[in-house]
Amino acid sequence: MVGEMTNAALVPARRDLSDAPFLIAAQGGRPSRTPVWFMRQAGRSLPEYRKVRAGIPMLEACLTPELACEVTLQPVRRHGVDAAILFSDIVVPLFAAGVDLDIVPGTGPVIADPVRSAADVAALPVLQDEQVAPVAEAIRLVIAELGSTPLIGFAGAPFTVASYLVEGGPSRNHERTKALMHAEPETWHALLDRLADLTLSFLRTQIAAGVDAVQLFDSWAGALSERDYREFVLPHSAKVLGGLAEAGVPRFHFGVGTGELLPAMREAGADVVGVDWRTPLDAAARRLVAAAPAEPAPVVQGNLDPAVLFAGVPAIESEVDRILAEGRRTGGHVFNLGHGVLPDTDPDMITRVVELVHERGVSSVESDGAGVEAETR
Ligand code: CP3
Repeated sequence: MVGEMTNAALVPARRDLSDAPFLIAAQGGRPSRTPVWFMRQAGRSLPEYRKVRAGIPMLEACLTPELACEVTLQPVRRHGVDAAILFSDIVVPLFAAGVDLDIVPGTGPVIADPVRSAADVAALPVLQDEQVAPVAEAIRLVIAELGSTPLIGFAGAPFTVASYLVEGGPSRNHERTKALMHAEPETWHALLDRLADLTLSFLRTQIAAGVDAVQLFDSWAGALSERDYREFVLPHSAKVLGGLAEAGVPRFHFGVGTGELLPAMREAGADVVGVDWRTPLDAAARRLVAAAPAEPAPVVQGNLDPAVLFAGVPAIESEVDRILAEGRRTGGHVFNLGHGVLPDTDPDMITRVVELVHERGVSSVESDGAGVEAETR
């Protein structure tokens, strides 16, 4: 594959993908079929991933363009999903900028010197474009190989990245993060402002390199009350998403346990709101409409419980059918899981979901779209 990549630089930065179901659905249009992709589709559930990653640390893999390209393409080849997501991680821009961190297998990101004071915040490096040049190169390589499949770029949202920085690693209760937020709001806002700048610049680099959509992962935002989310997080996520408004690519915004936050997360500047498995998609759409009746009918993404992929084909089929039916009662539906693919998932079950969604999803949302208005307004 590497040998065929010599003219990657000649490929136009953005392809004409106006027929792509994923992009049509994301814009609230009528796709020829319900599009489907999976958070964490590029990774450990695939034997071909484990093979190419063997002996190579995660961050090194993310910053090796040919390898990141190969891992990004693997789930597209195997499952026939409607979008690729770039193989990377939410801590890649911090690492590239010089923050001392590692991704520890079985644990997640671990930060050598957690950020807990105004001085720590002031000492955070600013991301230079050339520091993420390998990511931009990986995107160019992927696009040269993808044909008509859209590529999703992504970043961690300021809150979720801040949680890793402040806690020093993964955290169940986010107590140090919430303590900083409430005890030293000025330091908190300074930290999130720095992270918003870093995230915005990282996503702009990805868009310039050619990604067709972006997803902002605020995975742990569901740990917050709506009140705290609005005061301490929303303005910073809005800086990121608002800063991309002119870029012309759909913006997805996702978190886990965010049933109470969905309208606020849309307000931050999302074109598509990701929903975890706890909230039915039609209920999510009703909440979004109630909060913003003048806005277009909301487009949602989700929301099969990743654990259902362990329950066997009959259970998977009935859950997929239920979710497709609920998705018809929204302004548009991009099928996904309610969170990432779990590492022990049988890849064949993922392929089966793709087939089911393509067989049984919408062929036209026109008539369904009319129903949405009646139900949701
Ligand atoms: O979606 C994709 O397939 C693209 C790749 C991707 C990875 N991380 C690769 C990865 C994406 C989109 C992410 C985002 C990410 N990283 C998030 C947000 C999404 C979510 O799941 O909520 C978060 C919170 C992280 C932080 C992180 N990085 C965690 C919690 C872990 C798992 C640690 C573990 O080993 O259990 C990582 C490591 C990581 N990121 C892996 C992969 C494939 C596993 C590393 C490996 O294969 O060795």
